[in-house]
Amino acid sequence: MRSLIDIKDLSIEEIDELIVKANDIIENPKKYAHACDGLKLATLFFEPSTRTRLSFEAAMYELGGNVLGFSEAQSSSAAKGESVSDTVKTVSCYADIIAMRHPKEGAPLVASRKASVPIINAGDGGHNHPTQTLTDLLTIHREKGRFDNLTIGFCGDLKFGRTVHSLIEAISRYKNIKVVLISPVELKLPSYIKHDVLRAHNIEYVQTTNLEEVMPTLDILYMTRVQRERFFNEDDYVRLKDSYILTPEKLVNAKEDLCIMHPLPRVNEISTEIDNDSRACYFKQVLNGKFIRMALILKLLGVE
Ligand code: NCD
Repeated sequence: MRSLIDIKDLSIEEIDELIVKANDIIENPKKYAHACDGLKLATLFFEPSTRTRLSFEAAMYELGGNVLGFSEAQSSSAAKGESVSDTVKTVSCYADIIAMRHPKEGAPLVASRKASVPIINAGDGGHNHPTQTLTDLLTIHREKGRFDNLTIGFCGDLKFGRTVHSLIEAISRYKNIKVVLISPVELKLPSYIKHDVLRAHNIEYVQTTNLEEVMPTLDILYMTRVQRERFFNEDDYVRLKDSYILTPEKLVNAKEDLCIMHPLPRVNEISTEIDNDSRACYFKQVLNGKFIRMALILKLLGVE
């Protein structure tokens, strides 16, 4: 039984297979409409979510399966003090696969050791978010046709942004990748990721606070929200929240085929004036997220 806790749990070949499968689902949705008949996905969300939870649920419905679960810790027995281990042992009795989001880093890993069905990490604290990364990879592949030879700028909250951490981990395995880290000094990428991922893979990277200066070099700009819920005090959040706001003026020197990504939700980081720019890819990401999750569910359930 396989779980997906960290993007490294998948080899590059497996990621390629998932992308091929997701593209096939996009082309031939009817072929998959009954692939998961009689199977159930549980979504256990101990933290807020719109896209991740609903895309998992839509994915399972489109495969012919069913869905159960909860969308806030307060409505589950966690509010009575139940451990994650006991919750997933229980849910394993009702569902064939579990997608779980939790504010504590490592909770889905613990769950995967106790559950008798596959666990998918749908975001654990400020740590990882591997299915958003699959979504991002499918988007990059559909937009750019490759994973090699790309300069990717990550902008915003690189400290707490789990989608950034997982995507850096994934993209570092490809050839001739350059990473540009754009953040306020207080929200720099954690040094363990620079050390264990970027340096370990010999990835060329630069750190800066100035988005406009690096804009012309970027093939992909990955904007992120400042992660208010991970701050220790509100004053720091208020001071940092609007550090970067992407406006049409800031794109003047950008490449014509720049791909602007954002895992969403957006707060202020991208002006809505950019939504109609052909380079805006963030709503395409939303749609791709459902298809890649369909491919992932099929893989982890071993459905042909
Ligand atoms: C992200 C998350 O939850 O980490 N959202 C998502 O899953 N698409 C990004 C965020 O909350 O800022």
